[in-house]
Amino acid sequence: MKPNFFIAPSILSANFACLGNEIASVIEGGADWIHFDVMDNHYVPNLTFGPMVCQAVKPYASVPIDVHLMVEPVDEMISTFAAAGANIITFHPEASRHIDRSLSLIKATGCEAGLAFNPATPIHVLQEVIDKLDVVLLMSVNPGFGGQSFISSTLKKISKVRAIINEYARENGRFIRLEVDGGIKTDNIAQIAEAGADTFVAGSAIFGHKDYAKQIAALRAQLVSIR
Ligand code: DX5
Ligand code: ZN
Repeated sequence: MKPNFFIAPSILSANFACLGNEIASVIEGGADWIHFDVMDNHYVPNLTFGPMVCQAVKPYASVPIDVHLMVEPVDEMISTFAAAGANIITFHPEASRHIDRSLSLIKATGCEAGLAFNPATPIHVLQEVIDKLDVVLLMSVNPGFGGQSFISSTLKKISKVRAIINEYARENGRFIRLEVDGGIKTDNIAQIAEAGADTFVAGSAIFGHKDYAKQIAALRAQLVSIR
């Protein structure tokens, strides 16, 4: 048994000139989370938006805001994004000197906590901090840009993490979400779900088209026969 499937549109591919309306319409179109890609042009070679933008769009977000911190250092950003309305905060383990402390900082704000693993980052740290995790975010592209192609070696990693999460759920009665991020389209989401993902970030697959509801429905349609 896995948690039900969530679609988390990444606003990195939205129209930044009217972000609030974009968020409202993609939620109307069926989004479960809003994926908020924070980039600092230090940890990743791109620069997006900060806590003030999160605060500004919060009134439009009637679903959880899933903040993906692609920043280094991490800790100062945790309390600011929590105060700005984040509901889930994930960061990259390479970007924190003290991963357990950063996760505790997130939990102390009341937000859900997650680790984001780049395609080449091994997942062994999971075993040490799994009790603090609500989400494991597996990057299926190298972070920094939308519209990239899905890295198929991620499928094996998804299955490995699914096995770890299922064993943890059996032993502790608590499910951790397995979120996959990057290059997700209607023609690969079923395979990604089969491998064990339950939460799907999609930026260009949704915001690259006019009708967000139609795009989200098309992604969901691929998941109907998968459990
Ligand atoms: C990349 C971001 C992803 C990206 C996904 O660094 O973390 O969330 O926006 O965009 P698509 O779905 O277009 O690959
Ligand atoms: Zn992301």
